[in-house]
Amino acid sequence: MSGYDFGDARFDLSQERDREVLQFVLSQALYGEATGVFCGRSLYNAATLEAAQFYVRQARQELNHLTLFADIFRELGLQPTPAHWVIRVLAAHNDYYPLKVLMEHALGEGMVLDIFRDVLLQTLPDDDPRVPGIKKKLRVICREEEEHVAWGEKETRRILAERPGLKRAFYGLLELQLFLVPYAVRGLKQQAPDHPVMQRLDGFVDFVKQRVWEQGQALGFVPADRPSPSARALAVTSGLGLLARSQLARSRSKLDKRYLEELGFR
Ligand SMILES: [Fe+2]
Ligand SMILES: [Fe+2]
Repeated sequence: MSGYDFGDARFDLSQERDREVLQFVLSQALYGEATGVFCGRSLYNAATLEAAQFYVRQARQELNHLTLFADIFRELGLQPTPAHWVIRVLAAHNDYYPLKVLMEHALGEGMVLDIFRDVLLQTLPDDDPRVPGIKKKLRVICREEEEHVAWGEKETRRILAERPGLKRAFYGLLELQLFLVPYAVRGLKQQAPDHPVMQRLDGFVDFVKQRVWEQGQALGFVPADRPSPSARALAVTSGLGLLARSQLARSRSKLDKRYLEELGFR
C-alpha cells in the first residue's frame, strides 16, 4: 500500500521544537492505544466465535501497543501529555456494534495507520541511533493495526449487506470525521509552522481525506460524487441520530445464546 510521500522531510531529535511536535503526536497515539484496550469489552456482545477470537487477540495486541509506545517515550526521553479533544471524541468507545466496526476499526484505526506508517515511519531520522529500534516496534504495531482495519472493513460490508438502510448514516459519520480531522492538526502546525514536516502536513491531510473517501466508496456507503451541501447535511443529521441512539443501546451478550450453533452442535 503506498501512502503519502514526505520526501526528505525529517524530524531532528536534538531540537526542542521537533521534540515537542513528536511529543504531541506520540501522546495522541498513547491515548488511542489505551482506549484500544477497551475492545476487550466487545467480547461481551461478540455474536460469533470468530468475533470473540478477534477481540481477544486485539485486546492483547492493543495492550502490547500501549507498552510499546510507553517504551518509545522513555527511549526518546519524552513525557506524555493529555490527549487532544478531537482524539478523545474519535476514540470514544461505542457499544453499538455496527458503529464500532465502522468508526473504530475501519475509519479510526485506518487513520491511525496513516499516521503511524506515513508520518512516524517516514519522518523519524534513521541517523539517530534510537530510531531503528523504535521503527521496529512501529512496524509490529502497523502490521497489527492492518488486521484491525481489515476486520472493520469485513464486518462493515457484512452489516451493510444485511442492513443497507444504514448507508446514509454511515456516510454522514464519515463526513463528520473528515470535518474533525483538521482541528486535531491545526494546533500541531502552529507549533512549528516552518518545519519541513509541518509544511507537508496539509498535503498529508488532503491525502488522508481522499483515501478515507475512497475507502468509504469501496465499502459501498459513499456515493460516487459528493452530494450537495443540503444532502450532506441530511446525511450528517442521520449519522448524528444513529450516534445518539447508539449511546442508549444496551450491550447484550450473544455467545451464551448461540454457542451451540457456533460450535457446530446444531
Ligand atoms: Fe493499536
Ligand atoms: Fe488497533
